[in-house]
Amino acid sequence: MTPKQRYLFDLTGYIHLKNVLSDEELQNAQDAVERCVQTPQDELPPGISYGGGGYSNGFSFDKSLEALTLHPKTWPIVKELTDNKPRFNRGSLVAKGPEHDQVIGKLHCAREDCGWQTRRYDVRDGQVHCNDFVVFFYFADVHPGDGGLVVLPGSHKANFERPEGIFFPDPEDPPDELHPALVNVTARAGDAIVLSELLTHGVLIWKPKERYRRFLILRYKTQFFQDTRGHRDPFPPEVMERLSPETRELSQPASYTHIKDIAKSEHVRVT
Ligand SMILES: [Fe+2]
Repeated sequence: MTPKQRYLFDLTGYIHLKNVLSDEELQNAQDAVERCVQTPQDELPPGISYGGGGYSNGFSFDKSLEALTLHPKTWPIVKELTDNKPRFNRGSLVAKGPEHDQVIGKLHCAREDCGWQTRRYDVRDGQVHCNDFVVFFYFADVHPGDGGLVVLPGSHKANFERPEGIFFPDPEDPPDELHPALVNVTARAGDAIVLSELLTHGVLIWKPKERYRRFLILRYKTQFFQDTRGHRDPFPPEVMERLSPETRELSQPASYTHIKDIAKSEHVRVT
């Protein structure tokens, strides 16, 4: 993590990384997403299911998507935030058309959803520690005014409950102008966003009729964060078996004393 990334992540609770994907990586990912969208739902690879513009376990549709879990530009950030003890535990592909996101996706964060005791954000020894965060990889452009992701910068460290209705008093009839405390993050194809789950975030109504939202949501936790609902593997067996050994290791829970082989290296190639 560079000093600039660390500063911005600590200050705002997220970072927008521009041009993370090479032209080739972006093209391969876009082609894979298009193939996934064109695949009839009953012919999707085992363990991938579609609903409401999202493909659960969609990261496992193609190696070009799976490889993003260990992308060289985000991997050092994943390693630092988890103190070199990362676990990847969900990867959904979003491919939404103009018919989706026609109402405001309610503002929320893990503190409100799961209880303040469940998530940590801290800085020790010049390093950020965060036990739950997401990385979004964008495959299509978002322009100012389009809608999409909205965040409340700094809210990952908020000390007060968010008063109900403060930003969207009537979610059925959202104001034309955003409250100045909110930011609509407009990422371009090839960008990535790293966001603490403690950051209050939501989704604005998607306005374009001819441009779609296409991105991958990768979720990471510390490897000793046990949110496994009784399962050791975060993905069904049919998904686990087609993953590369590196991704499989990344997805495993482990003790807080263990260092995974993949965490010993700065560059991991998904084989
Ligand atoms: Fe969310």
